[in-house]
Amino acid sequence: MTARSSLTVVLAAGEGTRMRSSVPKVLHPVAGQPMLIHVLRAVPKGDGAALAVVVGPGHEAVEQAVRRVRPEAMTFVQRDRLGTAHAVLAAREAIARGADDLLVAFGDTPLISAATFERLRAPLQNGAALAVLGFRAADPTGYGRLLMEGDRLVAIREHADATPEQRKITLCNAGVMAFDGRKALEIIDQIGNANSKGEYYLVDAVSIVRNLGLEAVVIETSEDEVRGINDKAQLAEAEGVMQARLRKAALDAGVTLIAPETVFLAADTTFGKDVTIEPFVVIGPGVSIADGAVVHSFSHIVQSSIGRGALVGPFARMRPGTSLGDGAKIGNFVETKAAILEAGVKVNHLSYIGDTHVGARTNIGAGTITCNYDGFAKHKTTIGKGAFIGTNSSLVAPVNIGDGAYIGSGSVITKDVPDDALAVERSPQTNREGGATRIREMKTRAKKPKA
Ligand code: UD1
Ligand code: CA
Repeated sequence: MTARSSLTVVLAAGEGTRMRSSVPKVLHPVAGQPMLIHVLRAVPKGDGAALAVVVGPGHEAVEQAVRRVRPEAMTFVQRDRLGTAHAVLAAREAIARGADDLLVAFGDTPLISAATFERLRAPLQNGAALAVLGFRAADPTGYGRLLMEGDRLVAIREHADATPEQRKITLCNAGVMAFDGRKALEIIDQIGNANSKGEYYLVDAVSIVRNLGLEAVVIETSEDEVRGINDKAQLAEAEGVMQARLRKAALDAGVTLIAPETVFLAADTTFGKDVTIEPFVVIGPGVSIADGAVVHSFSHIVQSSIGRGALVGPFARMRPGTSLGDGAKIGNFVETKAAILEAGVKVNHLSYIGDTHVGARTNIGAGTITCNYDGFAKHKTTIGKGAFIGTNSSLVAPVNIGDGAYIGSGSVITKDVPDDALAVERSPQTNREGGATRIREMKTRAKKPKA
């Protein structure tokens, strides 16, 4: 950590044409979280750390995403997308305030860590005017190449403008840069657009720094930290890197993942102690899993909390707003949504429980459905504690079932059931003596060919 003040400008205005999507590129998720949010979580924060995000015109959704994590951030709209240097200058007003360090990060490079930003700032304290984050690319196609003279950085050449010789260079520009905040505007204002695309390239800051007799340095990092996402193939690669990291972090924290490579986690998943996740489980955003819980195979969980010692699945689907109490259980082919299941509740088989509150220790029989939607609106079901809902019951909401109530199997419950009452709703059963024999004889006669 440094005591120097900073301004980070995150560039997020690109159209993302290569994604072939109507969603702004930086909002595409990696591990269940927009890629831009990963970047915003890694950039400097706290006292003396200002943030500006440059967004494209009409990208209100990007601004909203920024507000959710950094409400104090400044946002600037870049109307014409004339290149990365032009994008930085959209935040001129913020840069002119003159922080000690000006950091530039890309919204499409989500795997970067907070430690790397700090590493990049260090040379500025020793007098460098510019520090560029570099990496050795397995395939450098498309990246800007770092042109070195010994260990001095003299220029960056974009792929499109590079000679065949320069294209062989594998040391590439990650896109993240740190400028001496008091010299940054003077440098960036000199950047022109004399290149094959006619864009204002931030990378040209390097040669300008050299011409001013100032120092530009390279700080290296691994490719996996700075993969830029321009298309869906790169998005999938970044997801793979992020998943590997999340699985490793979970294993390091003591979570048992029997087949880690088959479990998908979200960036914000939290685990207690002694949690077991069986193979082929998908965990989306907003999930917390408490001590001793077990998630069996093929379960899908989003925006839900799982209590201590609770059991989920196999084949369970927990949709947003599910809270599973301590020791509670959701079994196979059970779907829940906006459902609070208190401690010890059991929903073991083949049920849909939505917009429902279930009191502690209640047992919900196989095939029970809460009928929460009448085709026009959603309605709520409340079930008390210690109740028993018989197999194949339909609970037509809005409806309240009392503590200790008992619902006979196959009932369609449309009226409230008081505490400790027995509710049965089905036609009386009739048994006709010998009836089965008579039917069999009738059917057999009908089948015989006519003589
Ligand atoms: C850029 C770098 C390249 C580097 C690579 C690393 C430049 C000129 N090139 O190339 O050297 O190796 O990243 O991933 O800097 N953006 C705007 N407004 C614009 C243009 C871009 O906000 O007018 C934003 C984009 O949203 C994106 C970032 O800047 O987040 C980078 O732009 P992109 O077009 O993806 O640059 P690359 O071709 O990947
Ligand atoms: Ca890019």
